[in-house]
Amino acid sequence: MEKYTPPVNPGRIDDTTAELKVGDSTLQLPTGAGASGEKFIDIRALRRETGYIAYDPGLVNTAIAKSEITFVDGGNGVLLHRGYPIEYLARECVFLEVAYLMILGKLPDDEERQRFSQLMNRNSMIHEDMHTFFRNYPEHAHPMAVLSAMVVSLSSFYPEFEKSEEYEPLDITATRLLSKVRTIAAFSYKKSIGEPFVYPSHRYRYCENFLNMMFASPVNDYVVDPVVERVLNLFLILHADHEQNCSTTVVRTVGSSDANLYASIAAGICALWGPLHGGANQAVIEMLQKIHDDGVPIATVIKDAKSKNSRTRLMGFGHRVYKTYDPRAKIAKETCEQLLAHLGVQDDPLLEIALELEDRALADPYFQDRNLYPNVDYYTGIAYRAIGIPPEMYTVMFAIGRLPGWIAHWLEMKSDSDQRLIRPRQIYTGPESADVASRSAV
Ligand code: CMC
Repeated sequence: MEKYTPPVNPGRIDDTTAELKVGDSTLQLPTGAGASGEKFIDIRALRRETGYIAYDPGLVNTAIAKSEITFVDGGNGVLLHRGYPIEYLARECVFLEVAYLMILGKLPDDEERQRFSQLMNRNSMIHEDMHTFFRNYPEHAHPMAVLSAMVVSLSSFYPEFEKSEEYEPLDITATRLLSKVRTIAAFSYKKSIGEPFVYPSHRYRYCENFLNMMFASPVNDYVVDPVVERVLNLFLILHADHEQNCSTTVVRTVGSSDANLYASIAAGICALWGPLHGGANQAVIEMLQKIHDDGVPIATVIKDAKSKNSRTRLMGFGHRVYKTYDPRAKIAKETCEQLLAHLGVQDDPLLEIALELEDRALADPYFQDRNLYPNVDYYTGIAYRAIGIPPEMYTVMFAIGRLPGWIAHWLEMKSDSDQRLIRPRQIYTGPESADVASRSAV
């Protein structure tokens, strides 16, 4: 059995310090740098020594962890997983190899790959009793609601992990989650269209199995197109991890209370659902479809996205960390165009709108000044649509892809000696005291 012992790099502490003057006293704060040179000030002594706390809404300036999993250089559009560039992984690997890399820190050799694949097959079914849950959801339940509820339910059906003294990611957690989440996702789609579930099969590879569960039916065999299978692998790889994004931070936060892995991941799925995060992929396609159906001029879309009076944003544009083209978006765009050509989709109207919208936005000073570029969610939906995956499933696809990252971060957090219960402070601005005496009895 492989053991997980993540090598948490403590990050280099410099000889220099940062000085903070508060009133008459001066606090010396250690400074340091991570493996790729990103600088930090260690403020752990701040409140203890000065009584002050840091105010940082959105944690824009705050590192909540040291991590060895993923590096993002937002200024230069670089994304590395365990040191491997995303372009290399997308070109050379299948999703399961990248999942293995995320969780175990290395790409698998042939034997490891085979074993991982066998474990994946062994864990692919969900408990028969869980099928009744699906039946009781309303027909049009959003698959993200079903997915999060089903994942937290796994903790009741497979409680062994909670009892385990040591974390054995390959057998107990990683394979079970990776394999079963794929089955749950496909079942939630079948439920939404009122078709019987198609069970996973040991005959198929990971993505092939998913496509078969989605599109085969008792009356219709589905022949998996290897190009489509490759695109699916590639998109899942693009989503595999992205350091301390909203959902990963949620997974770490829930896990920091010692909640089990299933509960932590289910919470991450809920965080991912929001349209500012993973839900953007569904929002993008809905935006493009609306522009198409209503014949909205591109100039109007741009004007609305820039307006301070409108809450409209250009979905699939902008990123907290990338201030240049998202490298994942570049790969997704190329892949999307190649896929449409392979499928013989000529002049997809939504792709044409997306391309024109991108060109117009990138030429506009509003987007230039704010460094707003297409992000990973801008083009993926167009490809999913061509494969036949409906918009409500797009964020589910993101969740299947992000799973290895969530698991890796959860495990890394558990083994980090600096880790404490994540419990931020606040600046209270409410009333000092309410008038209790004047309240009459009810
Ligand atoms: N359309 C129009 N204006 C935008 C957009 C956009 N998509 N994104 C940011 N801005 C403006 C924003 O209004 C603000 O302008 P100002 O300085 O005049 O107030 C400025 O750019 C900075 O924006 P911010 O909201 O402070 O930046 P943030 O880092 O907090 O937000 C974001 C990042 C991703 C939430 C935001 O860019 C956004 O809402 N994008 C659209 C939703 C989206 O595509 N999300 C997917 C993100 S990538 C996948 C993932 O990892 O989840």
